[in-house]
Amino acid sequence: MIKVVNSIKETRDIIKSWRDKGYKIGFVPTMGYFHKGHLALMEEAKRLTDKVVVSIFVNPTQFGPNEDLARYPRDLNRDIRLAKNVGVDLIFAPEASDMYSPDFQTWVNVEKLSQGLCGEFRPGHFRGVATVVTKLFNIVQPDIAVFGQKDYQQLLVIKKMVQDLNMPIEIVGHPIVREEDGLAMSSRNTYLSLKERESALSLYKALIHAKALIEKGERSSSKIRQEIKELINSYPLTKLEYIFLGDPDTLTPYDKTIKHKTLIALAVWVGKTRLIDNSIINIPS
Ligand code: PAJ
Repeated sequence: MIKVVNSIKETRDIIKSWRDKGYKIGFVPTMGYFHKGHLALMEEAKRLTDKVVVSIFVNPTQFGPNEDLARYPRDLNRDIRLAKNVGVDLIFAPEASDMYSPDFQTWVNVEKLSQGLCGEFRPGHFRGVATVVTKLFNIVQPDIAVFGQKDYQQLLVIKKMVQDLNMPIEIVGHPIVREEDGLAMSSRNTYLSLKERESALSLYKALIHAKALIEKGERSSSKIRQEIKELINSYPLTKLEYIFLGDPDTLTPYDKTIKHKTLIALAVWVGKTRLIDNSIINIPS
């Protein structure tokens, strides 16, 4: 039976009773409105641990003042049903007022990795993410937590935070789950109109194209960038925010030539919806 709880204390008590029995605890933090990407993380947690906890919390501190906090999609009953089907044991769905008191004043900031890529265009975003994930980790105290590679910079930020702050939690990264045509699954895809949905495919197409270019021997960052830009711009309703080519571990950009292991990450506006996608390309030596 799946349990659904919004109280922090009750969540702690249930998890403590599991830990007392020697169960290994897996955790998947989410903002809800589940798709197959979220469910794959839960299945992975289920494989790796005995009890799986999923949090559903649309965290206000990671949204900028002009972002989509108010209209972010929510459907708790649907989420409960889907999580139950994959064998989740506990959903923790707190109220914002229980997570952030009016005089909240403690923040976690992973300084370097939060800069660049999405950090450049969403100031304060990763500070909000690192802070809420720290709070959730302190409440759940999992052995393992699973994060998606879709939000690649977020995964790196969390891994660094756990290392720097000696949190005794193993962070597992899960590959990007895609729609049949290649679009990376995202709760924000529900914002897309039919026409926008067609243009949303430009991100995946650009990644595939860049990979093919690199496989054919292209090494120039500016050439690869140019081709990605042209491909994205050839789709209606798109507005490129950034293209990142660089080191997948340190997020150092490759300004002139790419190296044997290259992260390509993109953010593109399609109408009023901001989409991200990425791929790591290995060049065999
Ligand atoms: P949310 O966007 O709901 O994503 C929850 C988790 O699902 C993240 O680890 C994300 O990377 C993963 N995910 C989303 N789409 C995916 C896909 N197509 N394939 C694989 N994994 C995917 O990320 C957040 O929430 C928040 O920032 C959070 C970490 C919960 C902090 O508030």
